Amino acid sequence: MNRNIIIKNTTIVTPLGREAVKGEAMGVLRIVKDGAIVIRNGVIEYAGEAVLAPVIEDGVEFEVIDAEGRVSLPGFVDSHTHLIFGGFRPDEFEWRMKGDTYMSIMERGGGIQSTVNATRAESLEDLKVKARWFIDRMVEMGVTTVEAKSGYGLDTETEIKMLDAINQLADDSETPVRVVPTFLGAHAVPKEYKGRTEEYVDLIIREMLPVVKDKAAFCDIFTEKNVFEIEESRRLMQAAKELGMKLKFHADEIVTLGGAELAAELGAVSADHLLHVSDEGVRRMAETGVVATLLPLTAFSLKEPFAPARKFIEAGAAVALATDLNPGSCFSGSIPLTIALACIYMNMSIEETITALTLNGAAAVDMASEIGSLEPGKSGDVVILEFDNYRMLPYYVGMNCVRNVISAGRVVK
Ligand code: NIG
Ligand code: FE
Repeated sequence: MNRNIIIKNTTIVTPLGREAVKGEAMGVLRIVKDGAIVIRNGVIEYAGEAVLAPVIEDGVEFEVIDAEGRVSLPGFVDSHTHLIFGGFRPDEFEWRMKGDTYMSIMERGGGIQSTVNATRAESLEDLKVKARWFIDRMVEMGVTTVEAKSGYGLDTETEIKMLDAINQLADDSETPVRVVPTFLGAHAVPKEYKGRTEEYVDLIIREMLPVVKDKAAFCDIFTEKNVFEIEESRRLMQAAKELGMKLKFHADEIVTLGGAELAAELGAVSADHLLHVSDEGVRRMAETGVVATLLPLTAFSLKEPFAPARKFIEAGAAVALATDLNPGSCFSGSIPLTIALACIYMNMSIEETITALTLNGAAAVDMASEIGSLEPGKSGDVVILEFDNYRMLPYYVGMNCVRNVISAGRVVK
């Protein structure tokens, strides 16, 4: 397969640049009617007006896709998922609908711990098969890059099993998306360490970090009241940083704790969730360039208020959107619903939403120089919509508008 593709008769809609787009600039997209995109060896060679497209030399094979005026967007980047896990938790969903809270279920030994039990019991192969099933659903919705976290092992052996599963999926040429591995050993305190959080943090620092630093691009943590508090989080993340790992945070999801401020202090790549972020946290993240990854499907599923997207944008921060697909707080990987919630409830414009799901998602996995926009030199990751107008995306509420998907120059839908 040569990964050479020409998309003709398309309307190109894309943010521009090789880093996160901040503040009001998120609303600015490049729009080219009568456009063409040339992908050679999986990489974009040209994206612009068709009349100016390069002439393809004789004898070089290209697959030609006639988009008949439809919109081409950069492939979506789902920069926060818990893609690998054993079992399911539909019972907890029902308890929550009857008034139980996410944290009270967790404190009773359910929640994350229940998925930990199931994940420890499952083989690496089975975990991969299940994750691949989710990846295939994602591709249908236009995702071409997905971040995947460990964090349902909470012991060295199972955390490694999860990261190995993620890396094997990433390396498998059959996998239709790029997969970015994140270590989340500090997702919860496992039952064996109940009441001994400091000792579990020691175990992560002593035993897990030296091994996982070569298996994961990022180290993440659930910084939350009664899970990993600020001091414990600082100690662990400082150690990860010293080993050269890049940092992500689950921050200020359930209560205002100062996770956003800590992410800024330690120079994290992103802080995620942020439903209860303080004004100071917003300001510090904007100032230090930490990407604010907002996860509206989780707020929706937990019946919590949505994260303050407009505050971040008005403060000049870079906002990304992701699904948070996981078996507990948010069992959904729906890009169409993410778009709808961002536009309807978080008051983001569709232009800002597109930037958040493409270039800023790329920045949230520190890959903005390689993916996230339709520009020469970037990976040939393209979504062709059913429509010739990108504004159909939120208007067709919760519905999938994706017709074709090209991932690194390969047609995957
Ligand atoms: O991002 N909040 C912590 N972690 C996940 C939920 C994991 C689970 O419930 O299994 C989240 O919401
Ligand atoms: Fe999460």
